[in-house]
Amino acid sequence: MAQAVMARPKAPLIRHTKLLINNEWVEPADGGSFETYNPATGESIAEVAAASAKDVDRAVKAARRAVEEGPWSTMDAADRGRLMYRLADLIEREAAELAALESYNCGKTITDSKGDLEGVVNTLRYYAGWADKVEGRTIPVRGSFLSYTLRRPVGVIGQIIPWNFPLLMLAWKWGPALACGNTIVMKPAEQTPLTALRVGALAIEAGFPPGVVNLVNGFGETTGAAIVAHADVDKIAFTGHVDTAKIIQRQAAETLKRTTFELGGKSPNVIFADCDLDEAVAGAFHAIYFHGGQCCTAGSRLFVEQSIKDEFVERLAAKAVQRKLGDPLDPATEQGPQVSQEQLDKILGYVELGEKQGAKRVVGGDRFGDRGFYVEPTIFDDVKDDMAIARDEIFGPVVSVLPFRDLDEVVPRANDTKYGLAAAVWTKNIDKAHLFAEKVKAGTVWVNCYHVVDTNTPFGGFKMSGQGRENGEAALEHYSEIKTVTVKLGSS
Ligand code: NAI
Ligand code: MG
Repeated sequence: MAQAVMARPKAPLIRHTKLLINNEWVEPADGGSFETYNPATGESIAEVAAASAKDVDRAVKAARRAVEEGPWSTMDAADRGRLMYRLADLIEREAAELAALESYNCGKTITDSKGDLEGVVNTLRYYAGWADKVEGRTIPVRGSFLSYTLRRPVGVIGQIIPWNFPLLMLAWKWGPALACGNTIVMKPAEQTPLTALRVGALAIEAGFPPGVVNLVNGFGETTGAAIVAHADVDKIAFTGHVDTAKIIQRQAAETLKRTTFELGGKSPNVIFADCDLDEAVAGAFHAIYFHGGQCCTAGSRLFVEQSIKDEFVERLAAKAVQRKLGDPLDPATEQGPQVSQEQLDKILGYVELGEKQGAKRVVGGDRFGDRGFYVEPTIFDDVKDDMAIARDEIFGPVVSVLPFRDLDEVVPRANDTKYGLAAAVWTKNIDKAHLFAEKVKAGTVWVNCYHVVDTNTPFGGFKMSGQGRENGEAALEHYSEIKTVTVKLGSS
């Protein structure tokens, strides 16, 4: 593996660190702030304003005005779409700068950040197109009446996002919310606030009216909780840990808010002996190590048919030790650091637990380098289904290899988890592929591929991996209320 320490490309410019409320950059009422870091070095790179409940209230009031009275509420739907297209164009214009800032604050490789930026632009354009196509129906009711439905905005949406795809998660949440005419109070993750703030500035430049998008940085237990508790927020859209979602759901019950959740997983990636072995090895590698495993869909339970298991592990290990860890801003780097000390500690804790419970560490499992939060790509063999490393979301570059014999055996094992976000199967046999896709409990199933997620395909979880769907037309129903209007025709 290459050295972590090398000549750093120039640090990206940090332009915004305040709160964005009602199209103005404001200081927090209580003057709170927090540090944000470069995970490649562990160094603080900026002090960012932290929103208190007072600031959240200010943002919610601005969002309420915008959705009830402001120009946003009376604008033609097509014009709303044009604003979204304009924002997408501005993000595209700034894509190089935004990608560098994303890598600087989040630690993802510059290659991955550029890929994310394409996804951001595609998502905003996709939903911009929907803005004037959110339609109701006419319904043939009994009697002399005309009944039709209107799709109205839900109102003020509280959006709470994580650090692993800071801008992509913003786009997935802004896209359908704005297309349906809602307004937004968003809390970026405390680890990665910088790129969202830059996009906030671009939203002003694009011409979004005041109050439509508001950004309140801060921690979950304070800023996030204040959004969830606020009586005038109509809905919470959240991506993050399942335990955080439970807290949010309990607190949202007080005001009976609508909620949608996207909560990660422990996704089974199932390799049959009749697969294309070269593609399956490359696919399993990408499934777990993409973004250092900090991916809700990570293929962290690798089921390999017994007859090819040893060869498969050997080939995967040979690739793992070749992986180039280093500065995320260096285009040659294949894997950056984990996002934080907390994540580094969590992952190394699971490696220790895996060994203690009797799994065989084949490669990796140690911290890489002596600064920043790097973890070596790690493979555990001889993993049993009930070990912690096979059950818990590790959210790092750690894969558990689990041998199996046939389809009937592997399906119930793949489903034996509280999660159900994604699954994949590798085989050239179409019966096996379709039977697996039919029987596995997951919101997304890949056949002979992995991590293929596009803006127009519904994405979300079965079981404790979430509620509701993002992306595609499916997201729109979570951002609009159906109103039935019934008109008496003529006098009786
Ligand atoms: P988290 O769920 O605590 O944080 C996600 C977001 O929720 C952040 O913006 C955070 O500030 C906010 N938040 C936290 N507590 C809150 C509360 N009480 N009320 C309102 N908002 C709150 O996740 P964290 O701590 O960053 O990571 C822990 C683990 O969560 C990871 O190791 C991973 O297993 C999982 N995770 C899953 C993600 C996914 O894509 N599904 C993304 C990030 C983390
Ligand atoms: Mg947390």
